[in-house]
Amino acid sequence: MTVREATLIRGDGIGPEITEATLQVLDALGLKFDWDEEYGGMSAVDKAGTPLPNATLDSIRRTRLCLKGPLTTPVGGGYRSVNVAMRQEFDLYANVRPTKTIVPGGRYEHVDLVIIRENTEGLYVGLDHTFKIGTDRRAMAQAMSIVTREGSERIAKYAFEYAKQHGRKKVTIVHKANILKATSGLFLDVARRVAEQYAGSIASDDKIVDNTAMQLVIKPEQFDVIVTTNLFGDILSDEAAGLVGGLGLAPGANIGTHAAIFEPVHGSAPDIAGKGIANPSAQMLAAAMMLDHLGELEAGKRLRCALEATIIQDKVRTPDLGGRAATAEFARAVVKRVRT
Ligand code: NAI
Ligand code: MG
Repeated sequence: MTVREATLIRGDGIGPEITEATLQVLDALGLKFDWDEEYGGMSAVDKAGTPLPNATLDSIRRTRLCLKGPLTTPVGGGYRSVNVAMRQEFDLYANVRPTKTIVPGGRYEHVDLVIIRENTEGLYVGLDHTFKIGTDRRAMAQAMSIVTREGSERIAKYAFEYAKQHGRKKVTIVHKANILKATSGLFLDVARRVAEQYAGSIASDDKIVDNTAMQLVIKPEQFDVIVTTNLFGDILSDEAAGLVGGLGLAPGANIGTHAAIFEPVHGSAPDIAGKGIANPSAQMLAAAMMLDHLGELEAGKRLRCALEATIIQDKVRTPDLGGRAATAEFARAVVKRVRT
């Protein structure tokens, strides 16, 4: 059996709890990983005095593969988001976030969409400054959004290729080109051109982001693949997660040419950290995406099926899904399903 080398970052808050649960399931699947455990975020500050130690970057540079838990980022001031820094360091330009109805009886029964978010440009480039006027040190603030033809083209191509490979029918280009004529306009233009190259095999349309946000709530089944810029993708993917039972079920992949990082969409959930009640599904589904990425399609499928059977048939659910199961109990139930 091949033993694969990969970097493991358990993360902050609920990160260690959901990661432990996920490792148990990977183990039950019979997959062997040689984990190089590294740190990031608040736990790295505590251990190494910096939120993003060089050892962590070196490890990912070597293994090119990372499973990570959520990392805490201070709001307002403090250090810059480690997640954003890692995405930029390894040029992980495609953020892939699938949303699918798993829990029956929720608001929407047939949601099955994927948001493909540009992950390195837009308003997340870090050009966000305050200015002093008179005696007020923060009298004005300015952020810069960067959109390039090359960046837009590669994410649009990624989205259409993804659609092709995963048997998807339509790609919706989401933008705000009516107001942001230069930045969003460039993105829309380039993405439309890419869409033309797929005409006949993958359908395409485009929508303004605010309308998209509303349409997602009114009729989410109409969406298949959405491709959009960084900030819109960030917001819409949380919204999409909310349509099918919340962040506890939403995984994400950050894909570049030379490395890939798999993680839940949600954050470190400080409000429930340490209580043993976090839903590890998002982290488990992130691991399933990692297996797909490695070509272990059968194992990825087994993981997803076991998780769905646990939630739907066994009705073992964590409190965020209206159940009473603890994280560890849920993990044991998924492991049992994997083994049967
Ligand atoms: P959050 O996603 O951590 O939590 C939002 C709400 O969802 C909370 O009520 C939380 O309890 C609940 N929730 C999240 N994941 C859950 C799970 N697996 N099971 C059950 N309930 C869950 O977002 P918040 O509170 O805005 O951010 C907390 C910290 O996480 C911040 O420092 C933020 O910067 C960071 N963050 C990190 C991310 C990453 O590492 N990729 C992504 C998003 C936020
Ligand atoms: Mg987010």
